[in-house]
Amino acid sequence: MGTIIKAEGLKKSFDGFEAVKGIDMEVEAGEIFGFLGPNGAGKTTSIRMLTTMVRPTSGKIIINGFSLDKDLTEAKASIGVCQQHISLDKDITVRQNIKHHAILHKMPAKEIGPRMGELSELMGLGPHMDKKVTELSGGWKRKTSIVCSIMHRPKILFLDEPTAGLDTKSRHMLWDMIRELNRSGTTIFLTTHYIEEAEDLCGRVAILNQGTIVALGSPKELCDSIGYITVEYSGDDGKKSMRQFPDRQSGKEFMAKLKEDTAMSLRKTTLEDVFLIATGEEYSEGGV
Ligand SMILES: Nc1ncnc2c1ncn2[C@@H]1O[C@H](COP(=O)(O)OP(=O)(O)OP(=O)(O)O)[C@@H](O)[C@H]1O
Ligand SMILES: [Mg+2]
Repeated sequence: MGTIIKAEGLKKSFDGFEAVKGIDMEVEAGEIFGFLGPNGAGKTTSIRMLTTMVRPTSGKIIINGFSLDKDLTEAKASIGVCQQHISLDKDITVRQNIKHHAILHKMPAKEIGPRMGELSELMGLGPHMDKKVTELSGGWKRKTSIVCSIMHRPKILFLDEPTAGLDTKSRHMLWDMIRELNRSGTTIFLTTHYIEEAEDLCGRVAILNQGTIVALGSPKELCDSIGYITVEYSGDDGKKSMRQFPDRQSGKEFMAKLKEDTAMSLRKTTLEDVFLIATGEEYSEGGV
């Protein structure tokens, strides 16, 4: 299949503040790739660079074989973007927004109607198609924005927190849609704050912290890298701690050494544990 997104030494500074500090990353064609990180880690800035919306301060990007320095138009034609902060034209209808988007991406006129019908049905947008964007709830705006981003059948779809603000049913529908798009050959690059979402959907994830990739691999590889088993226990001060072990037996041996009245439990390590450790958001006593 080969590499479809490549970033080398990607950096972005705003007035001397380095928001992205040199990212090296390759995404394979056909992957669902997750980009995780706390608020302000640099996820949106990275996506904006990868999708040609913002120029990197330095570094190189290749999208679908096209360098953003040289072949911007070809690279742009390969991607669809659903931005974190929805960028629809508020004063026109949903239908008009979708149509504008299709025209902007040079879709043949005769394909626009059928494709719009197909996608509005998939997303349940039918009753809202002739409403102005200002009349829509946040969730329907998000769905409109997603339909816009996939109208032209992009090879790569960038979704910046696509499920933020969606109700449970819509979220599940969107997951199904992402899987379906991926099955039909679209590479997906996704950011999310819902770690279980990434664990469930993504073949590989990168964890970003303060502008740097601090972990990269499949959820299983990342869990195994810190220890497949996690023991949670309360310290003498009542503070909850966790520690990782390569197997159940070593976890049990550790538990046997804890004071008898200690609250403790043993479970499989999750991607959330990896995230907390990689981003330094949770104390881990010598477990890594
Ligand atoms: N246009 C800008 N001008 C100045 N600083 C910016 C600009 N865009 C982003 N930043 C800063 O860069 C850092 C990274 O922001 P970014 O939006 O990429 O983070 P994020 O990982 O997407 O966060 P979130 O999870 O909150 O969406 C933040 O400190 C932010 O304040
Ligand atoms: Mg963001």
